[in-house]
Amino acid sequence: MNFLVTGGAGFIGSAVCRHLCANPAYRVTNLDKLTYAGNLASLRPIENAHNYSFAHADICDERAVLDILRRNDIDIVMNLAAESHVDRSIDGPGAFIETNIVGTYKMLNAALEYWRGLSDDRKSRFRFHHVSTDEVFGDLPFDGGMFVEETPYAPSSPYSASKAASDHLVRAWHETYGLPVVLSNCSNNYGPYHFPEKLIPLVILNALDEKPLPVYGAGANVRDWLFVEDHARALELIATKGTPGESYNVGGNSERTNLAVVETICDLLDIRRPRAGGKRYRDLITFVTDRPGHDRRYAIDASKIGRELGWAPSENFDSGLTRTVDWFLDNKWWWGPIREQRYAGERLGEARKEVV
Ligand code: NAD
Ligand code: DAU
Repeated sequence: MNFLVTGGAGFIGSAVCRHLCANPAYRVTNLDKLTYAGNLASLRPIENAHNYSFAHADICDERAVLDILRRNDIDIVMNLAAESHVDRSIDGPGAFIETNIVGTYKMLNAALEYWRGLSDDRKSRFRFHHVSTDEVFGDLPFDGGMFVEETPYAPSSPYSASKAASDHLVRAWHETYGLPVVLSNCSNNYGPYHFPEKLIPLVILNALDEKPLPVYGAGANVRDWLFVEDHARALELIATKGTPGESYNVGGNSERTNLAVVETICDLLDIRRPRAGGKRYRDLITFVTDRPGHDRRYAIDASKIGRELGWAPSENFDSGLTRTVDWFLDNKWWWGPIREQRYAGERLGEARKEVV
């Protein structure tokens, strides 16, 4: 079976490529533009694998995508390429509109043209799997409620609005043109190779650098956390066994306030890399201005994927976070150049900018 993974040089896409390549019956083509978030070093464990190849391309380039689909005889597209950071979407929404909306539209057009040229047998087996986020459902109150697949979309940020728009396009290509699509909406991932603009890797690396650990507002906002390798397994199941036209919610059943997440990282580091002079990492926690439009809480009801596809996470938050902290302690070769050359940890998305 031949997979095209877009955004495979990113955090989740690279986990998907590493996971799929472990199956010798699969061939994996990774299509990535290599933006600031793309990093071929994340593919090092599979870069010489017989069943892995890389194509440097932009999902907005419909002709290039079509050519890659044809040259690699693709059976399953997994569309992960996106601008993914909420704070960057506040500072500069344009790239999010371009890649997440226009790029998905171009991917759908290319996939449709390719699909129409397949034999009937291959046509029925083809899938376009669009990887989305729980943020499309918007803001939950602190005291109850969970997102189910039928929850109405109510995105709050330019990022989540662009992902919501792309989900609608994917459904429309199914209803109107019959393209066999599946969608998934997942909660916050964490784990190895996570770009250090996101909360968990940022806090780990700032702590190791003895820098302030920025907590937005009072740190009371709640996210549901899923270890990235559990997400990669879920995505393989959805892409290969999901029902066309359906969407699947994926979550870790691990809700935590942001402050609790940061404190747990501090406590793990106190044991694994104690600070000089008996100081505690918690002393570096700094409360900073809140994110504009900050959703209070996300929570996922993942019972459908459990019931229909037999998926369950294998890591809980404590075991996954321990693995993650240990990975960052052992892999400075990966994150050192990023912190030096791409992103040093400065505050992003602090204020709404006037658009003229
Ligand atoms: P990421 O920012 O780490 O990686 C995105 C990748 O896409 C990068 O390699 C980048 O180079 C590539 N890319 C960006 N624009 C491109 C373009 N125009 N053409 C080709 N490649 C392009 O993102 P991530 O955290 O790995 O997220 C992957 C997907 O999963 C996204 O669609 C995101 O919305 C979704 N998602 C993420 C999370 C999460 O917690 N990180 C949770 C749920 C869903
Ligand atoms: O829910 C899924 C989403 O999770 C994905 O769709 C996004 O691509 C992914 O980036 C993530 O979005 P979040 O905005 O939830 O992740 P982030 O790591 O940016 O922030 C997590 C929480 O921590 C959020 O409530 C904001 C807060 N935060 C974040 C940063 C970067 C802080 O308190 N301090 C920080 O420095």
